[in-house]
Amino acid sequence: MAERLLDDIKSKIDIVDVISDYVHLKKAGQNWKGLCPFHTEKTPSFTVSPSRQRFHCFGCGVGGDVIQFITEHEKYSFKEALDVLAKRAGITIPVRTSNGTASEKNEQLREVIRKASHFYRENIQSSGAASRFFTSRGITDESVQLFLLGYAPPGWGNLLNYLRRSGYRDEIMKEAGLVVQGKKGYYDMFRERLIFPIMTANGTVCAFGGRALDDSMPKYINSPETAIFKKSEILYGLHAAREGIRRQGFVMIVEGYMDVIICNQHGYDNAVAPLGTALTSESLKKLKPLTSAVNVVVVFDGDAAGVAAAQRALPLLCQNNLRAKVLLLPENEDPDSYLEKYGNTAFNALLDTSVSMIDFILRVTAGDETDKVHGAVTLISENTDSFMADQMLIELSGKTRISESLIREKFKKLKNRAGKNKPNLSSPVRGKINREEHLLLSVVLAFPEKADQVLSQLELNDLRDKTVASLFNNIAALENKADISEILHKTDDKEKKLFDELSMNPGFDFNQVDRIVEDCLGSIEKRKFDEQFHHAKKSGDLHRMHSLLRERKKA
Ligand code: UTP
Ligand code: MN
Repeated sequence: MAERLLDDIKSKIDIVDVISDYVHLKKAGQNWKGLCPFHTEKTPSFTVSPSRQRFHCFGCGVGGDVIQFITEHEKYSFKEALDVLAKRAGITIPVRTSNGTASEKNEQLREVIRKASHFYRENIQSSGAASRFFTSRGITDESVQLFLLGYAPPGWGNLLNYLRRSGYRDEIMKEAGLVVQGKKGYYDMFRERLIFPIMTANGTVCAFGGRALDDSMPKYINSPETAIFKKSEILYGLHAAREGIRRQGFVMIVEGYMDVIICNQHGYDNAVAPLGTALTSESLKKLKPLTSAVNVVVVFDGDAAGVAAAQRALPLLCQNNLRAKVLLLPENEDPDSYLEKYGNTAFNALLDTSVSMIDFILRVTAGDETDKVHGAVTLISENTDSFMADQMLIELSGKTRISESLIREKFKKLKNRAGKNKPNLSSPVRGKINREEHLLLSVVLAFPEKADQVLSQLELNDLRDKTVASLFNNIAALENKADISEILHKTDDKEKKLFDELSMNPGFDFNQVDRIVEDCLGSIEKRKFDEQFHHAKKSGDLHRMHSLLRERKKA
């Protein structure tokens, strides 16, 4: 239903109109351009396409349709954005009837959690204990508001009864992880604890962390995983840090709840923390939409555990193309304690001592220089971005007495081995190799009338770029190629991004379309021949070599 409504809304309003309310747009060719509202820039790379009804920023990589613009810009939930735009389009949203789908259920979970969060917040006022804790830790009222901090009073059924009175069923409370089922019935999960609501990147509360007020154990308990709370996908504080990360151009990854809050209070409004202690790839992916090149400073305690945690984090950072530095704090300090004790100036000085991933790995890897270089090259081979890998290789050779060529040789060997072990993970990197594939797709997006011709000559299995291949597949399935944007109903984020990039910045001369198609098809064909021929040659299959050559001559 939401989809129908969405299409309806989109047919009645123009994305250029909507975005013009927020951004000063100027016509540039078929598109409109302006300064990106999501990152700081001096020359406009924020592009809006009226024909696609989509926006894309070539500077920071954000993009999407009109709904995404509004959710992103206004920090609205999907539903709120839908409401606002429907109003603008003069459409009344039909009252929704419960049909028990998964998304209905998730909506119910969010609803009961929102109510619980309200309850915990109300209780701060009546609790001397909570205020005393905040005061003693230097947490300001603004932070209490920003992070929606709360308090769960002592007792077994405070929240339970409150929610019952508000008409919620016990089962939904249990499913949301708010109450626990015991022998004698349900009881509150969080009792006599400070409450740290855990929010998604757009600020929807999806779970809670609860800290004991004293030294009792466990110090923290977190909500169990639910349909709307996947621990590994969350970075605590990301909602409050989004603007800060964009503005400051980097994100600080710290250890826990208190660090995020105290950092924020000291003006480091770009701090986030993993839930539990380990950083995960899923959570790092949430940083992607913020800017195209997110710089990261990972902050760890300077003890052995901190060093080990940093070592575990580095490969994940490389796998996610994040440029990271490591900051080791003095032993037994966390950013919270350090800032409270020594203040901003000292912390800034400390930040200046953060080292590159290469420096860090060279420092902490045991053994002689060969071992250290091996450790570093192993890390570099985790990069999925060849540009970043290259930069790190150059840095490594500069910082050791080992020549760049030797280091590159080592790297190639490792990479090849890794490639053999996990062929599916070695995703094709963007670059020269897939230029013709991107160009070809670009042509079809700009001239949908060429789609059939291109598709008839292109073997989709020959494409190496999975994203390009998938987009071509979707185009092939389209009944009416003129409505090429229709494929966006079936594409994932990565595909949408490439679609936007290419359709808003085709990158070829429109007068040369036919020659470009021919060239691209030709080089994809040639690449395939080379591969097959090489293969036949390697296995000494003369017959196959001949037939390949014959085929090629004919073509
Ligand atoms: P810390 O013990 O360093 O907590 O754990 P903290 O946030 O610095 O709190 P203060 O300063 O002692 O008040 C770091 C993080 O590890 C997770 C929490 O996310 C915490 O913020 N943790 C810690 C748990 O999940 N459970 C625990 O029992 C302890
Ligand atoms: Mn602490």
